Amino acid sequence: MSTHSDNSSLTFVDLFAGIGGMRLGFEQAGFRCVFSCERDKWAQKTYISNFGDTPWSDINDLTAAHLPDHDVLVAGFPCQPFSIAGVAKKASLGREHGFRDEGQGRLFFKLEELIREKQPKAFVLENVRGLATHNRGRTLGWILRRLRRAGYENVSVGLANARGYVPQNRVRLFIVGLRDNAEFEFPPFEGSGLPPRLRDILEVNPDPRFTITDRLWAYLPAYAERHRQRGNGFGFGLADLDGATRTLSARYHKDGAEILIPQEGKNPRRLTPTECRRLMGFPEEFKIVVSNTQAYRQFGNSVVVPVVAELAARVKEYLDGPRTTAIECPLDETAPLEVGTRELPGLGLAKDEGSLPSATGGDDGAADPGRPGRARLVGVR
Ligand SMILES: C[S@@+](CC[C@H](N)C(=O)[O-])C[C@H]1O[C@@H](n2cnc3c(N)ncnc32)[C@H](O)[C@@H]1O
Repeated sequence: MSTHSDNSSLTFVDLFAGIGGMRLGFEQAGFRCVFSCERDKWAQKTYISNFGDTPWSDINDLTAAHLPDHDVLVAGFPCQPFSIAGVAKKASLGREHGFRDEGQGRLFFKLEELIREKQPKAFVLENVRGLATHNRGRTLGWILRRLRRAGYENVSVGLANARGYVPQNRVRLFIVGLRDNAEFEFPPFEGSGLPPRLRDILEVNPDPRFTITDRLWAYLPAYAERHRQRGNGFGFGLADLDGATRTLSARYHKDGAEILIPQEGKNPRRLTPTECRRLMGFPEEFKIVVSNTQAYRQFGNSVVVPVVAELAARVKEYLDGPRTTAIECPLDETAPLEVGTRELPGLGLAKDEGSLPSATGGDDGAADPGRPGRARLVGVR
């Protein structure tokens, strides 16, 4: 599967690798992967089948000494603590979310430790867009401060919608830091030509078992209404074949309600795993070696490959130099968080970030209250 030439000079490590969506994008841009880490055994199975590498399992057991030297640290750190569905679910179970979520939110600390100790030329972190608004922007502001203290004065934040590349609306947040203090400009994330249409990625004769049952079809409107009343985003959606789907989520395997394909004279159907692969911009030769349930989870958790490829190509331009955009980074402790060039309504970052919950291991940012680090939110559609 690897698309890189083995003598690519720029290297990266692929942390929280999932099934390697970030890896594919970086390889397409000419980088070479030298290490990967992924704990889930089914994701590992897919990763091994497609890349031939067995990832390191639990990142909690990983130290900087285990990591080979690399140019870019790449990580799509677990997003459930910040995603709309994740926050709603944890709240309904009376559980903490964000960094108060001991298991998942705290994995960021591990990333921070590895970045601080390895000092890669760049890092690229990926998460859901809900991270920008979680805890009224404080969580992201806090992350940026921590990264700045890890040695990266200028950290840029961008949002990218995959709509220009695949027939899916999927907005993801990227955090990019460059060690030489250059200010990173995100690419426009527009794709090329007309936005792709859903009908062009559908299978011609999908298996009838993907058609939903009469019972489920009758139940979905009431289900959607119940969730609407509870104020969360679950519902069901009949997709427009000439347009794009909603965001494919990791819970798609449950009932497929968020993306239903209309069919003439029949109940709608779910996407097939092959269609999910296309919806995420993975190449046709990418092998699906797990059950449908796992495949839906894996693609729903992953990234849209051409979006990452475009971002990685831009990172490569910076690393290949020559550098023209290096700036003097003002260390004005009172400067407000700088929020980017085009801002989505409701996606602004709070200027008063405060400090994060005390469970941050003693270093909760309170000692550095005023300067959240530089951030730009760009490329939003
Ligand atoms: C949002 S997904 C990243 C998906 C990836 N970007 C891709 O393209 O498939 C986060 C991944 O982190 C993994 N993960 C969670 N906790 C982990 C841990 N402690 N050690 C290693 N991987 C972990 C999950 O299994 C999941 O696959």
